[in-house]
Amino acid sequence: MSHNRNLSPEGEPEEAALDRALRPKHLDDLIGQERVRENLRILIEAAKGRNEALEHTLFYGPPGLGKTTLAHICANEMGAPIRITAGPAIERAGDLAAILSNLHEKEVLFIDEIHRLGKVVEEVLYPAMEDFALDLVIGQGPGARTVRLSLPHFTVIGATTRLALLSAPLRTRFGAVYRLDFYEQAALAEIVERAARALKVPMAPEGRDEIARRGRGTPRVALRLLRRVRDYAQVRGDGTITAGIAAEALSLLEIDAMGLDDLDRRVLRAIIEKFDGGPVGLETIAASIGEASDTIMDVVEPYLLQLGFIDRTPRGRTATRLAYEHLGIPYTRTEQGTLF
Ligand SMILES: Nc1ncnc2c1ncn2[C@@H]1O[C@H](COP(=O)(O)OP(=O)(O)OP(=O)(O)O)[C@@H](O)[C@H]1O
Ligand SMILES: [Mg+2]
Repeated sequence: MSHNRNLSPEGEPEEAALDRALRPKHLDDLIGQERVRENLRILIEAAKGRNEALEHTLFYGPPGLGKTTLAHICANEMGAPIRITAGPAIERAGDLAAILSNLHEKEVLFIDEIHRLGKVVEEVLYPAMEDFALDLVIGQGPGARTVRLSLPHFTVIGATTRLALLSAPLRTRFGAVYRLDFYEQAALAEIVERAARALKVPMAPEGRDEIARRGRGTPRVALRLLRRVRDYAQVRGDGTITAGIAAEALSLLEIDAMGLDDLDRRVLRAIIEKFDGGPVGLETIAASIGEASDTIMDVVEPYLLQLGFIDRTPRGRTATRLAYEHLGIPYTRTEQGTLF
């Protein structure tokens, strides 16, 4: 990406250590996502009651909402070890076979970006997930034969930002599939509060709420804003995060009252000003502002949809009246205009 995005929900290396320190480790520590939490509680207790491995579980949703966190929590609650990998890291069928044949009973295999697994690799995963079996081809040419190796009962936890890119056969092999939603502001406020306490940053409740309001419903974003505001408070104030300090710091970062940043606004402006409010395809929007369409699809679009600033139609995206109002652009479209 061409510019530094403070709102980017994708993690950055320097955040990794702090991320790990702040990451909730038990279901009871998890803030928000009540529906997922309660479903998981039952899934985990049932598996433990039967002394079985946890069912294969898939988490999907926009970046930074807690998919990786939940995978660790599941393993932790099961008292099982976790092995972490990612779709793009498993290049050949043999790579996956090696991982699978080293797993232990009940171990969790976390596959991040699971939609990026190759077809051949996926085909090794199917029998492993379904029958706990690994089919190995021994020898070459006409003399080759397959041997079926049985695997310990383990758990695949998959994470993806793009459910639609997951092949149907892979998707059906997950016993439990959970969508993560953007967080309510109150939940984000609690997450920010807890993190500030851990970081020992003094913070007024109004300062906390200001950060939560502009946190894009995304814990990773809210936590990143907290760190930027903490810096600002230290340099320009006495170290305390007050409402005023938070607002100043966030406007310096060009994050507006709804949590939109420069890229979000450029996308909205492109739809409105270059394409007359839409409908316009995402690829076209991306090309017109010189950004990667993946970023717009994964990061920008879900939040704008959530705010009701854009609509998805079969012919592309349209900007809603709310978007015009937010940007202070007069809304001139007729209702019929959006229907043709
Ligand atoms: N419910 C929560 N309560 C507190 N902190 C949370 C919660 N969910 C996520 N976080 C924090 O937000 C950050 C991002 O979470 P996580 O890495 O699990 O997101 P993700 O969905 O895996 O993102 P990606 O799609 O980019 O991999 C972490 O620092 C984590 O500690
Ligand atoms: Mg993750």
